[in-house]
Amino acid sequence: MSSDSALMPSSTRSLPLATRGRGVWIWDENGKDYLDGSSGPVAVNLGECHPDVVAAIARQAETLSFAHRIQFRNEPVERLASEVVELLGPDFDRAMFVNSGSEANELALKLAFLHWDVKGMPEKTKFVTTTNSYHGSTLANIQISGQPRYSAAFRPLVTANERVRAPYLHRIRVDECIADPEPVVLERLRDDFAALDHEHTAAILIETVGGASAAALVPPPGYFELLRELCDTYRMLWIADEVMAGFARTGRWFGFQHWRATPDLVVFAKGVSGGYAPLGGVGISRRVSGPLLHARGAVTAGHTYSNNPIGAAAGVASIEVMRRDRLVEAAAEHGATLGEGLRRIQRDSASIVDVRGIGLMWGVEFGDPATGKPFPTDEGFTPCFVDACAAEGLLVYPSRGGVDGVSGDAVLVSPPVVISSDEIAELLARFERGLRRLEAAG
Ligand SMILES: Cc1ncc(COP(=O)(O)O)c(C=O)c1O
Repeated sequence: MSSDSALMPSSTRSLPLATRGRGVWIWDENGKDYLDGSSGPVAVNLGECHPDVVAAIARQAETLSFAHRIQFRNEPVERLASEVVELLGPDFDRAMFVNSGSEANELALKLAFLHWDVKGMPEKTKFVTTTNSYHGSTLANIQISGQPRYSAAFRPLVTANERVRAPYLHRIRVDECIADPEPVVLERLRDDFAALDHEHTAAILIETVGGASAAALVPPPGYFELLRELCDTYRMLWIADEVMAGFARTGRWFGFQHWRATPDLVVFAKGVSGGYAPLGGVGISRRVSGPLLHARGAVTAGHTYSNNPIGAAAGVASIEVMRRDRLVEAAAEHGATLGEGLRRIQRDSASIVDVRGIGLMWGVEFGDPATGKPFPTDEGFTPCFVDACAAEGLLVYPSRGGVDGVSGDAVLVSPPVVISSDEIAELLARFERGLRRLEAAG
């Protein structure tokens, strides 16, 4: 039996065997280097094997490797909760931990239901999301994620839910020939909210910056301020999915902090542990935690590994490193350089139609620059581009189907926030070579 025959493949592509990593670099079994231009799935915010986080994990594993949440409190998790709450700002006073972004979103949905239940509105059981959204791969999450391709193979298992239109500025510009789409996006948000079944809706779950299925859709100024107002008017909670955008990625601790509006619940995962431990959670605002704790005393929702001390130690150490090394500021600074570089590449390209992003979370959308229209889906531009970049030793993250759930080619470029200026230059050089390689192949 070969060494990999027992593992159910998760991709039909043949993948290199990763053997070693350091900072933004990963090496395969043949010694080839890859610059991680996507932080894996926009998760490994501190790059590979950060010595301080690795040491913290090792120390914790030697001190207390497990303590179950119904039997003990533990120091790392209590410290992590305080840190997260402080970073979220004065409107927040609690955090709960699980093991992934999917679990954290499900927890947030449950908390939103309980919030209305204790207020005497148990009929609020529905959740609204945006088109072009991704919230995870559990059954509840594929049901609510806005892109149909995530649930396509499981259609009989999921039911439809209501959506509002994503703030897709580029497509409004191209498809509707509207030069200034920002007011249109705000108007549509208002209209879409007005049409919802408010009486039965508990919350809107929305990525602050659209990621896996939207390639860094950054909502315009005023968007979340309006969303806050609409949620209050229609008695819905705002759950911010910051699984990708949180923890320095956008040049703030959390993406929502770019706007003057505060969510009720903030979902995080990925970067909270530098990407090294299965860790996710929900930051809970006082306005939700107060009535909930008053009415119920506790919220029973959790898993075997919730509040795991090793995961929490990774989280505490990652936050310490981000603070000490000013990585939030670094993400903003390096992000500006990365964005400028990608826009420069766009100017000479025969296949880029939009470059958008914030901090170190950038999306590059492909299509015909003359019209802005997408390439035919069956040409498979995105996987070909991802392969062309990999051939040049660069990892980028595919983000397909943005236009209508099926067509639309794009990638996310989102390197670890520890990236240096020289490494940004190298990333851009490899990106450009990957693009030329594909454009030359026609
Ligand atoms: C915005 C967003 N939410 C939730 C998830 C799901 O997180 P996980 O894969 O940790 O379950 C992802 C994963 O990519 C994500 O990008």
